[in-house]
Amino acid sequence: MYFGGSGKEVGLKENAKCNKEYRLSFTDRAKEIVESLTLNEKVSLMGGNWSLEKMMSEATANESDNHYNKVPYPAGGIEEKGIPPMLFVDGPRGVVCGTGESTCFPVSMLRGATFDTGLEERIGQAIGEEVRAFGGNTFAGVCINLPYNPGWGRSQETYGEESFHLGQMGASLVKGVQSKNVAACVKHYAFNQMEISRFKVSVDCDKRTEREVFLPHFKDCIDAGAASIMSSYNRYKGTQCGHHDYLLNQVLKEEWDFDGFVMSDFIWGVKDTVEAANGGQNIEMCCTRYFGDKLVKAVQDGLVPESRIDDAAFRIIRTLLAFTEADKEDYPKEKFAGNKEHIALAKEAARKGITLLKNDHQVLPFDKATVKTIALIGKLGKKEVIGDWGSSRVFPAYVVTPIEGLKNVAADTQILYCNGSNPEEAKEIARKADAVVFVVGYDHDDEGEYISESENDGYTGAIGGDRLNLGLHEDEIRLIKEVGPVNSNSAAVLMGGNMIMMTEWKDSVNAILMAYYPGMEGGNVIAEILFGDVNPSGKLPFVIPYKESDLPQVNWDTDSQWYDYYHGYTKLEKEGIEPLFPYGFGLSYTEFSLTDAVFFADSENVFAGCKVKNTGLKEGSQVVQMYVGFKNSEVNRPVKILRGFLRVDLNAGEEKDVRISCPVEKLKWYNPDTSGWELEHMEYEIYIGTSSDQKDLLEGTIKL
Ligand code: BGC
Repeated sequence: MYFGGSGKEVGLKENAKCNKEYRLSFTDRAKEIVESLTLNEKVSLMGGNWSLEKMMSEATANESDNHYNKVPYPAGGIEEKGIPPMLFVDGPRGVVCGTGESTCFPVSMLRGATFDTGLEERIGQAIGEEVRAFGGNTFAGVCINLPYNPGWGRSQETYGEESFHLGQMGASLVKGVQSKNVAACVKHYAFNQMEISRFKVSVDCDKRTEREVFLPHFKDCIDAGAASIMSSYNRYKGTQCGHHDYLLNQVLKEEWDFDGFVMSDFIWGVKDTVEAANGGQNIEMCCTRYFGDKLVKAVQDGLVPESRIDDAAFRIIRTLLAFTEADKEDYPKEKFAGNKEHIALAKEAARKGITLLKNDHQVLPFDKATVKTIALIGKLGKKEVIGDWGSSRVFPAYVVTPIEGLKNVAADTQILYCNGSNPEEAKEIARKADAVVFVVGYDHDDEGEYISESENDGYTGAIGGDRLNLGLHEDEIRLIKEVGPVNSNSAAVLMGGNMIMMTEWKDSVNAILMAYYPGMEGGNVIAEILFGDVNPSGKLPFVIPYKESDLPQVNWDTDSQWYDYYHGYTKLEKEGIEPLFPYGFGLSYTEFSLTDAVFFADSENVFAGCKVKNTGLKEGSQVVQMYVGFKNSEVNRPVKILRGFLRVDLNAGEEKDVRISCPVEKLKWYNPDTSGWELEHMEYEIYIGTSSDQKDLLEGTIKL
């Protein structure tokens, strides 16, 4: 029997010493230390020790000798008092330190498509080891912002559009990282899903949207024991999130009982000494601009109560002491950074996440015996494309490009390459070849972290930004439409951090493979899937509509943005709009049948189960999904929402029993009138299946 869902523990527990209980055992010691410190000393713990000038020079330096984030950035620390510094390392694509050393995993969006919480926990462990290898003690790579519109340039850093799934994946990364006694920092709290406007926008939404759509995944990570959280740059209801009494003090620390520390997003996340300190900010990263002396004076002037400073110092000391003392094991860089096991894990993730969306006439997999020549078309076919060039940029020893991957995997197949700038040349090679592969989509120029020069002290660290339209580049669309029909043995491989519109060109190729940004081994895995050495099993962590206008629209360059309750698949379902590809969808080279569904509930959990059989001829994996529906609700609720999932590996002909569970807690709605979560006592629809499409689901009901 295979169990999955939020009710069950998955993954490994090895070394997992630094959990909340352990951290709380440092309470008395931390209090004593706080009492022994002067005001100046306490405040010194609340600021980063890096400088803006250093960052500027890193941003413009030659990558090989220096780069942003090359070493852990320190904050606080008082050696003589036994207080360790916080040593900050960024992510989530892996560890951003060093050059040519660390492992570049696929971006989180691809990892979201694996729906594999156990794998994400193992990735967390590997990352934890690499953080330790570079001398860090905090990993700020648990990015779980929910892309309200998929054009958000940093969507690649998060796991998908669905809050429940974001919570499960984020919590798994937290557990993995912290099992190596590295504090996991969850970011960016909260409502950070626009890039171009991130430094100025004020987000607003109603209470139910806040509580049911944008905050639950943060709580899931806190409940999983995350020891740190990063406040976001944007404002929420007019207040800077790094100063936000409601978000930081009331919700996070009081309601959710968060025991760790808050840090600001870098340099521009704190804008006012008094507001930030009173609002619950604990560490101003990564340079001290508004805290430090200014904060000491604000306390002396009576504008910030010293108790606020004590609380911050206490949280910082307790957490860092616990992580530092949890184990003193050495993690030599030569042994841990970018080691064989970690690179194998990066490859495993790419194998499990790359998603096959279309495979008409079973054009894929290509047969090595008959495909003797392959036309590879598109500039990305020869490029190292692993994601944006912002703070999450990892510098691995190598990146396998798609063309190199094809050479490695299909050594006897001749590759005819053209970059696609001349469609006639592309047609000519497509005509000659036995199969055609277009590699199209985005790279760091098209989407990613963005810092505008005018807004931020002349600092320009990254290009990218949000996508103003969600389609491929015009020339790529033209290329596929003109060249695709020349050879029907054709596939389009897409690179990108989130949904890419396909309506316009999808009929011009027979196969579509979403590769996201597949990490340092990505080229090999793309080729393995194209030639059938690996059976694809990724599932879309977002919906793909026929029309962009079916999604919520945002103004990317704005001072204020309203978020509605519905987005992604819940919006389309509520409005009765058929998507091009539903949430949770992905094909395989084998077939599966789901039968014998059972649904039941007790006072704590709801359960869905079925038999899953691989009815085809190849081994493969299926992601079984559980959704809960609310037809009988008396309030406005989604048609259905994801409430559990489980990956199952099956040999040809094999059958397994699957059970998925979810706490009843997760079925509640937030009543703004009572400011509380309420369970509706009614009949719920419950579904188990292979995507969110009704056709792929078995249905039943449960009564609560
Ligand atoms: C990003 C954060 C990142 C920080 C440090 C900021 O610009 O928004 O996600 O952790 O830089 O690199």
